[in-house]
Amino acid sequence: MLTDPFGRQIDYIRISVTDRCDFRCVYCMAEEMTFLPKSELLTLEELEIVCRTFMEMGTRKIRLTGGEPLVRRNIMQLIRALGAEAKAGALDEVTITTNGSQLTKMAQQLAEAGVTRLNVSLDTLDADKFTLITRWGKLQTVLDGMAAAQDAGLAIKVNVVALKGVNEDELGDMVRWCGHHGYDMTIIEVMPMGDIGNETRVDQYLPVSVVRSRLAQEFTLTDSPYQSAGPARYVTVEETGQRLGFITPMTHNFCESCNRVRMTCTGQLYMCLGQDDNASLSTALRAGGVPALKDAIIEAIARKPKGHDFMISRRQTSAPVGRHMNVTGG
Ligand code: 5AD
Ligand code: SF4
Repeated sequence: MLTDPFGRQIDYIRISVTDRCDFRCVYCMAEEMTFLPKSELLTLEELEIVCRTFMEMGTRKIRLTGGEPLVRRNIMQLIRALGAEAKAGALDEVTITTNGSQLTKMAQQLAEAGVTRLNVSLDTLDADKFTLITRWGKLQTVLDGMAAAQDAGLAIKVNVVALKGVNEDELGDMVRWCGHHGYDMTIIEVMPMGDIGNETRVDQYLPVSVVRSRLAQEFTLTDSPYQSAGPARYVTVEETGQRLGFITPMTHNFCESCNRVRMTCTGQLYMCLGQDDNASLSTALRAGGVPALKDAIIEAIARKPKGHDFMISRRQTSAPVGRHMNVTGG
């Protein structure tokens, strides 16, 4: 078992399999982005070796993120390999965080490969707003993809980033809509990660505590005993019976129960989403194979910091965490 200096057992790895994306969400990216050079990507075979090595060291859950993980070429190869491990009981779960753009054509294959759950990022149900937020996305494509995923038997959690003046008036409707479709929903605060061009996070930031108290006027929210090891705190929406999560990195931080680390598509392991320290697993793997990779993982986990210290302020205009969310994954 991998245990960090604060006694937290690390049994969950999130891998950003590509930093590229077919959307350009305003809180995530600038419209013009420089992506990591393709030549530095870990191959799908290398990604699989890293996953298997983590599994040997106690990892029970793997999430593939991005960027948009489903736009990486031949990604089904890796998903099938990991899904087979989940079917065999060697992993509790293989999950994917996606923007939903590829689901119409891929949902069935994902289900057959052994994926059981998806997190779909969806911040609005209004087609014009959707295009405003994602710059390049079309709402209907995502809705069709979600329907295909549901038909294929995949459970869906909708991740909604709360955006001041953009979707704040819609969040109650989204709770109802998710409840109606049987989707869980989690509302997330904007985090200051990476430069986003002309937009500023101060203008986007809406505290989720405010969102929660507004929703509490519209719905009966009961604290839920359900608790994942992640940063979300859950309530049950009595009117719809669905689980609603709140992720509040800016106002509360729940780092003490953190069980995860994140790897980029070039093999940098980040021990915390909100800190810059990282370890190059690709260098270790390429220089010394699996034994060197294991040593590098152990050494990195020994440096896992206690927590993040995100802050959004008017005076500090550059993002405190230099990399964008698409590098380490959400
Ligand atoms: N703050 C909060 N959430 C973000 N995401 C991307 N960038 C940010 C940010 N700066 C979200 C996406 C998606 C998940 C991968 O992370 O909307 O739900
Ligand atoms: Fe792409 Fe997700 Fe970032 Fe939007 S938030 S640009 S969908 S990676």
